[in-house]
Amino acid sequence: MCKNKKVRVTIDSRDFDFPVIEGSEKEKGIDISSLRSETGYVTLDVGYANTGSTQSSITFLDGEKGVLRYRGYPIEQLAEKATFLEVAWLLFYGEMPTDSEIESFSQKVALGGDLHKDISNLFGGFAQDSHPMAIFSAGTMALSGYHPDFLKNGLSKEDKDRLFVCVMGQMATLAANIFRFKYGKAPINPDKSKSYEQNFLHMMFSEDDKEYRSSKSVLEALRVLLILHADHEQNCSTSAVRLIGSSLSNCFASLSGGIAALWGVLHGGANQKMIEMLEMIQNDGCGYKKYIEKAKDKKDPFRLMGFGHRVYRKLDPRANVIRAKCDALLEQLGKKDPLLDIAKELERTALEDEYFIERKLYPNVDFYSGIMYRAMGIPVEMFTVLFSLGRIPGWLAHWKEMVESSSFRISRPRQIYTGHTERNLF
Ligand code: SDX
Repeated sequence: MCKNKKVRVTIDSRDFDFPVIEGSEKEKGIDISSLRSETGYVTLDVGYANTGSTQSSITFLDGEKGVLRYRGYPIEQLAEKATFLEVAWLLFYGEMPTDSEIESFSQKVALGGDLHKDISNLFGGFAQDSHPMAIFSAGTMALSGYHPDFLKNGLSKEDKDRLFVCVMGQMATLAANIFRFKYGKAPINPDKSKSYEQNFLHMMFSEDDKEYRSSKSVLEALRVLLILHADHEQNCSTSAVRLIGSSLSNCFASLSGGIAALWGVLHGGANQKMIEMLEMIQNDGCGYKKYIEKAKDKKDPFRLMGFGHRVYRKLDPRANVIRAKCDALLEQLGKKDPLLDIAKELERTALEDEYFIERKLYPNVDFYSGIMYRAMGIPVEMFTVLFSLGRIPGWLAHWKEMVESSSFRISRPRQIYTGHTERNLF
């Protein structure tokens, strides 16, 4: 709270004072929780571009400076040094784990990865060409039936600890099993002796007669991508997780809703759309400049996928890391990807174009991530499932912070009604 700082608003010639809240990074907000009761007015902010939904100590991002920190640690340092499970622990508990904490947590997640034998029956109910995100959202909701006891005891610390382990283990196996179902392969059981990243790739790509051996560079790429996607404060899908959780619905229901929101092409679904856009440009043969012009044309619904962001007004720091890792991964794998060349040309040209400069549009996390997923052998329809896998600890951390908050209450926005005034049916 900004000690006794207030702002004064004059409404219908009356003055009203509202408290100012200042965060640890000097962000300021006007606390309008008494606005309607004092003035009869509500605010209107379609898309919530100017509206804070909560106070949070999990992730800080500065869109003007291109800064992203999880619990105060810069994303660049975590991407360089940490494992994904260490970052998951950091987000959920607020501090980096000790050696014994991470060892025990990693073992429990590995042991918690076996899915109930009946859950794969769910897949048969989906059309073969259903999108993996649809199955992932439904499968996550289905987990609530196999793990019913987390809301029973009013969410004790033990419940939340067990829920964290359960979700991290179960959803990695579920994600891999969805890939196996989509490609007509039998599921592969988790291998408890492997690291989280190794185990996921094993469950995705091993065959009954041949175990998949992850190369160091593919493992490193997966580790970095999962960390970079782990959290991003109050984005659309995290807000969906919080909104659903605010009714005290089941935590798996919140996560299922988060996956549903992330699927959208304006959000996490952009990583798949971005590759499809590059393939369209490549196949078109007219060159990428045509698509820069289409993106600028107000009459054309085409948007440059992986470009622009609600918060960043300069390069998304995650895109910076991913672009560098892209080059390294392709070199280590001895691969070339013509789509990377097109992406780099698109970025270079757009960043010199007045339309993009004026609107401060830069590559976001989804601009280069698909090139890395492709190089790792991940099919394009699974890209947003991989994004979800990374985001799970962030969603869980926000859900936990919300249910533990002293100001916890159900989220229920207001509106300005513009429909018919009263009229008679007869
Ligand atoms: C993610 O919020 C998060 O933190 C999300 C995320 C996370 O980690 O959770 O970072 C992950 O979702 C990244 C974003 C992925 N989506 C895309 O790459 C889709 C393409 N991007 C755009 O659709 C758009 O930039 C959004 C959806 C990301 C942001 O939309 P906003 O904030 O509503 O911005 P806007 O549409 O109001 O754009 C402002 C202007 C408009 O032009 P004018 O009306 O001012 O003339 O910029 C233009 C837009 O037309 N614009 C674009 C553009 N993005 C914005 N023009 C062409 N191509 C684009 N990609």
